[in-house]
Amino acid sequence: MTETIRARAMGRPLERLDGRDKVVGQAPYAYEQQVTDPLYLHPVQAVIARGRINAIDTADAESLPGVVTVLTHLNAPRLTGDGDGDDRELWVLQSDEVHFRGQFIGVVVAETSEIARHAADLVRVEYERWPHDVELSADRDDLYAPDKVNAGHDTDTDVGDVAAALADAPVVVDHTYRTPMEYNNPMEPHATVAVWDAGGLTMYDSTQGVHVVRQRLAPLFGLDPGHVRVVAPHVGGGFGSKGAPHAHNVLAGLAAQVTGGRPVKLAVTRQQMFSVVGHRTPTIQRIGLGAETDGRLTALVHEVVEHTSRIVEYAEQTAVVSRMMYAAPNRRTRHRLAALDVPVPFWMRAPGEAPGAFALEVAMDELAVACGLDPVELRIRNEPDVDPESGRPFSGRRMSECLREGARRFGWESRDPTPAARLRDGWLEGTGVAASVYPRIMQTGNRAWVRYGPDGRYEVGIGAVDIGTGTWTALTQIAADALEVPVEEVRLRIGDTDLPEAAVAGGSGGLSAWGSAVVGAARAFREKFGRHPSAGDEATGTAPESPAAEDFSMYSFGAQFAHVRVHADTGEIRVPRMLGVFTVGRVVNPRTARSQFVGAMTMGLSMALHEEAVLDPRFGHVVNHDLATYHIATHADVQDVDAIWLDEEDPRSNPMGIRGIGEIGIVGAAAAVANAVHHATGVRVRDLPITPDKLF
Ligand code: MOS
Repeated sequence: MTETIRARAMGRPLERLDGRDKVVGQAPYAYEQQVTDPLYLHPVQAVIARGRINAIDTADAESLPGVVTVLTHLNAPRLTGDGDGDDRELWVLQSDEVHFRGQFIGVVVAETSEIARHAADLVRVEYERWPHDVELSADRDDLYAPDKVNAGHDTDTDVGDVAAALADAPVVVDHTYRTPMEYNNPMEPHATVAVWDAGGLTMYDSTQGVHVVRQRLAPLFGLDPGHVRVVAPHVGGGFGSKGAPHAHNVLAGLAAQVTGGRPVKLAVTRQQMFSVVGHRTPTIQRIGLGAETDGRLTALVHEVVEHTSRIVEYAEQTAVVSRMMYAAPNRRTRHRLAALDVPVPFWMRAPGEAPGAFALEVAMDELAVACGLDPVELRIRNEPDVDPESGRPFSGRRMSECLREGARRFGWESRDPTPAARLRDGWLEGTGVAASVYPRIMQTGNRAWVRYGPDGRYEVGIGAVDIGTGTWTALTQIAADALEVPVEEVRLRIGDTDLPEAAVAGGSGGLSAWGSAVVGAARAFREKFGRHPSAGDEATGTAPESPAAEDFSMYSFGAQFAHVRVHADTGEIRVPRMLGVFTVGRVVNPRTARSQFVGAMTMGLSMALHEEAVLDPRFGHVVNHDLATYHIATHADVQDVDAIWLDEEDPRSNPMGIRGIGEIGIVGAAAAVANAVHHATGVRVRDLPITPDKLF
C-alpha cells in the first residue's frame, strides 16, 4: 500500500476558495480575459451534411464596415501535418470537403462580434451535394467492430458459453434498450481567445486540460509546445466536452495568424455547440440475462450498436460495465459501430457507464420482477467475490452496504413490489433502485512544484484546471495536508501551461492525478529543505508509486434510489426524491463532493426524462439545437436530491486514499428513475427519454 497522508484539511467542508471571486465577477472566464485591442470571430457553417464546396463568395461579407477579413479553405493559413486520425476533426479550412452539417467552412474576423455574426450570414456558398446518411439502426449491413473502444478497452469479450447458458436458464430476460444522442451543456459554452505573436501562440481557453490543448494544437500549428501557452483559471463546466480542443480552437489559431498580432475572441454559440464540441452517441443495446429461479445470474450478454463520425472514430465503451459488475459465469460483450455523416462524438459524463448502466440496471430490475425477488436483494445475490473480468480482488467493493444503507434511509422495507398499485390524488407512485459504478482512473505523467514564498506561504503549482468541480479548494486541502501546514499557508496555482504537466480534468481522475503529484512535490520539498525553509526554496515532484494498483481492481460503487409520481391521466412524471449512497474512497471536501454527486444525479434525472437530440435525416442536423428545445432538467424538475457516502479511505489507490467522484453520480441514476416509473405505472420504458407518450 501507499502511505496515505494524514488528513487534517482533507475531510473538511471548506468553502470554495474561488467562490467570492466568482460571485463578485472577478473570476475571469476565457472570453472575459482582458487583451489589448481584440478582434472578434464568427464561424461560417456548412448547411449540407456531405459534399464539396464548389464556390465560396465572401465579397459582400468583406465589404461590410468593420470586417477585417474572411478566412475560408481558399485563403486560410495551412496547418502542419497530414490531417489524419483524430486530427481530422481539427483540420478546418484546409480543404473543400464537407463531412457533417454544421462543420466550420469559414470564419469572419471583425471589429465587433455583432459585425462578425452579420457578415457570416453574407458569405455565399455553392455546394456539390453528395448523399448523406445519419440514421443508426441495428440491422445496417455496414456495422463494424472498432479495434478498441474508448479508454483502450477491448471491443468484444467472451467468457464461457453464453448461448448454452441462456438456453438452459430457467429465467431469461432479453430485451433491446435505447439511449438517444445527447449533448453536454455546460453553463459556459466553449470559448477561446487567441494571441499570435513573436513568442508563439497564447490561448485563453475554456478547457478541461491546458496541457492537452497545448499538446494537440502545437504540432498542427508547426510550433514547439514550449511556444504554445494555454491559460484557464476558471471554467464553467465541461462534462467531457472540453476534454480536448475542438475545431473552434483551430479556427481561432488560424485567425490569430492573420491579424498582425491583434488578439481574436471566439465564443461558440449554444447552437453551434450541437455541431462542433462532441456529443454522446445514440446507443441500441441488447441485454440478455439468464438466471436461476433464485436470481443468480448464469449468463450476461451486452451487445451495443452506436454511431461514430466518418472522419474520426470515437467508440463509446458502453458494454464495459457488464464485464465487471456481476458474477455471471458466462458473459459476452460486443461493440459495433456505424460510421455516419454526423459530427464527431466525444466524451460526455461517464462515457460508457452512463448509457451502459441504464440498460444493464433496467434489465436487472426486469429480472427481479421475473424472479419475484426484491431488486435490492437480487443485486446483493449477484455480488462477485473478485472482479469477474480481471480475477483480481477489489480494493473496496461495498456495493451491498450502499444498497442496504440506501434501502434503510429510503424506507425500502415497506415497499410493495406490485406495479401500478399506488394511486394518490391522481398520481401513480413508485420507487426504483439501480446500482452505480465508475472505475478509479489514475492518469500518469503529472508533476508539481512547491515553492516557499517570502510571505511565509507555500506556493504549489500544477497545470490542473478547476472546471467548477472544486479543484481550487480540494487540491489546496491536499497540498496543506501533504505539507502538514494549515490551508491558509498554501497558495495554489493552476490553470496555465507555464505550470507543470498535468492530466485533463476527466475520467473522474483529475484530483487523484494532481493530488498525487502534489504529494510527491511536498515530500521532495521536505526532504530537501526540512520544516524550516527559506524564501525561494523550491522542489519538484511526481506521483509516488502505487504498487498495489496492479494487484487490485479499483472501482467506486453506489446505489441509486428514486421515487417518482406519474400523473395517471397525462403521464407527466415528477421525481420528488432521489438518494445516492456511494463508496468512493476518501472524500476530500464534503461540500464540493456533495455538489458533484448531486449535480451528476441531476444529470441522470435529465437523461431519464428530458435529454434527446433529434437528427433530421433529410438534412443531417440536430433540429433541437438550443436549450429551448433540447430539454435539460431545470430547478422545477429537481426536488429532494441527496447524496451520502460511506466513511472510508482507499490507501491502495493513491496517497490521499481517494478514487474519484466526478462521474459516478450519473451512472445508474436514469435506470433508478426508469425502474421507479415501471413500479408506478407497470409500463416498462426501454428507450430514453421517458416521455409521457411512451407511458399510456
Ligand atoms: Mo469526463 S466525460 O471523463 O470529462
